[in-house]
Amino acid sequence: MLPSHGSNPHYLYDSLSIAQPEETLDFSANLNPLGPPQTLIEKWPDAFNLITTYPDPHSATLTKKLAAMHNTEESRVLVGNGGAELITLVGRFLFHKRVCIVQPAFSEYEEACRSAGCEVTYHTLEEGWRLDPKPLIEKMNHLDAIFLCSPNNPTGVSYDPESVRTLIAEAEKRDCYLIIDEAFADFLHEEPSYTVELMTNKNLIILRSLTKMFAIPGLRLGYMMAHPEVISAVKKLKPHWSVNALALMAGEICIEEQAYTTATRKFIEEERVKLQLFFEKHRYIYSRSSVNFYLLKDPERTDQAPLLHYLMKNGIVPRHTENFPGLNGRWLRFAIRTSDENDRLMEVLASWRS
Ligand SMILES: Cc1ncc(COP(=O)(O)O)c(C=O)c1O
Repeated sequence: MLPSHGSNPHYLYDSLSIAQPEETLDFSANLNPLGPPQTLIEKWPDAFNLITTYPDPHSATLTKKLAAMHNTEESRVLVGNGGAELITLVGRFLFHKRVCIVQPAFSEYEEACRSAGCEVTYHTLEEGWRLDPKPLIEKMNHLDAIFLCSPNNPTGVSYDPESVRTLIAEAEKRDCYLIIDEAFADFLHEEPSYTVELMTNKNLIILRSLTKMFAIPGLRLGYMMAHPEVISAVKKLKPHWSVNALALMAGEICIEEQAYTTATRKFIEEERVKLQLFFEKHRYIYSRSSVNFYLLKDPERTDQAPLLHYLMKNGIVPRHTENFPGLNGRWLRFAIRTSDENDRLMEVLASWRS
């Protein structure tokens, strides 16, 4: 049984019965390799006092700031204990409904929907992962909701905003919810904005995470944007105080960090170009990612398991893709890490070739 998520590499070592080397580099978690912003690190010693009182159950200050950032209203924003909590709550909101997941995609949508008794089907994109709205629109008449992950985890591909806009409009006409998970949108040079649609559309739900760009997954912080009626229905399902005070403080600091976000995007882009040149030279195939992770495979092998084992024995931990429908282990996923760590990855991939 392979672990269902990246991070915590010892689970992958244990499940594959590979002895974990003393030093490993974790390429399986898609976090900002530059770490949390300096301002957050500096303010952290002040945070201790926050744990002696209950957090604001309405996350009022952060909600206000997020609404202003997205040019929307506070009634259209709900802060959650990570994007993961909001996915679970949206699943419960869709109790017993007919849901389609555009695959490959983050596995939690299916978990959340199945545990809420939903009927789950897939719309699986062909490799290359281009989104053609037409076949999906045809399915909408028989669906209550569609999950779309863009930029996509695991491929890193960002779907064309025009196609997404078409889906948003058609879903509304057919009273089908369209849930767009944009957990990685802030890694894009040009972030898509569906704020205009959000202000009128009752069927659009946007999910966001603060844990990726700001490298704070241990704190748990995300938010969703939707019509006020959807927000209040989801809010009723949410446990009181589910977002802790430390996360709220971190969120308020992080969303002001535009310069940090811009510097991260630039850094990621430079590393991605460097890695892609290497992959081409050494005959590896990769996905056309626009964010901080990508898929990779050795086209000279039908089975990527030997490459996975080789990397892990050499202390490089990728994310397996066995539990992504549409990939089924045919690729490995890697985060873009620091320059030295990416160099080490290239060194090991070059040694695999020889
Ligand atoms: C696409 C996507 N959405 C949401 C999440 C959940 O993020 P978090 O709960 O850390 O905010 C993840 C985490 O890997 C993800 O990949």
